[in-house]
Amino acid sequence: MTKIYVNEHPLVQHKITLLRDKNTGTKEFRELTNELAILMAYEATRDLKLTDASVQTPITTAKTRVLAGKKLGIVPILRAGLGMVDGMMSLIPSAKVGHIGLYRDPKTLAPVEYYCKLPPDVGERDIIVVDPMLATGGSAIAAIGYLKRAGCTSIRLVCLIAAPEGVDALNEKFPDVTIYTAAIDERLNDHGYIVPGLGDAGDRLFGTK
Ligand code: PRP
Ligand code: URA
Repeated sequence: MTKIYVNEHPLVQHKITLLRDKNTGTKEFRELTNELAILMAYEATRDLKLTDASVQTPITTAKTRVLAGKKLGIVPILRAGLGMVDGMMSLIPSAKVGHIGLYRDPKTLAPVEYYCKLPPDVGERDIIVVDPMLATGGSAIAAIGYLKRAGCTSIRLVCLIAAPEGVDALNEKFPDVTIYTAAIDERLNDHGYIVPGLGDAGDRLFGTK
């Protein structure tokens, strides 16, 4: 069964409202996406393993903990996922970044792959797939399928807005993948857009419409 985590933090919910607003321009949309990625990264890494350590403070030795060292990988789904990479990397600077390029065929809504470049040791890493929108789930399922075939066994998906249809589809296909989102919206419309959603995330992020 897919675990789904909805980030109800007040800062997240406030920023999501601004992100949805049709009057929010490209510059602010990009800034908000970056800030939301940082806040989502904080929650999506809550269960990372720690190991005991010690450090010399100016006073004495402190018994502390550090990350246990399992390597992380961040995989944005192009294009819109790119808007979340910097925010994620600001909290996890040692992560490697892979890229998967997919676009939805406007008629069939099926994902079409056009690019893939992953770190060579991707299968050894805990992977965080990032994409602001989980609509039909087709893009996330295609990306995660690709990562599984590359040997990845620990994958989580961080999005900002999810549709129930996408959550169900991902659950059906990959029940082991935890979803982190800031909102679960009502439904998809006839064109596969999330309602109420925020429109086309890629276009709003890059000013292409
Ligand atoms: C958007 C979004 C997701 C996908 C979600 O990308 O960024 O990747 O749609 O829809 P799905 O769950 O139905 O697959 P889009 O295909 O518009 O490409 P873009 O990011 O290049 O604009
Ligand atoms: N992709 C988007 O960018 N927005 C949606 O609402 C659905 C898919």
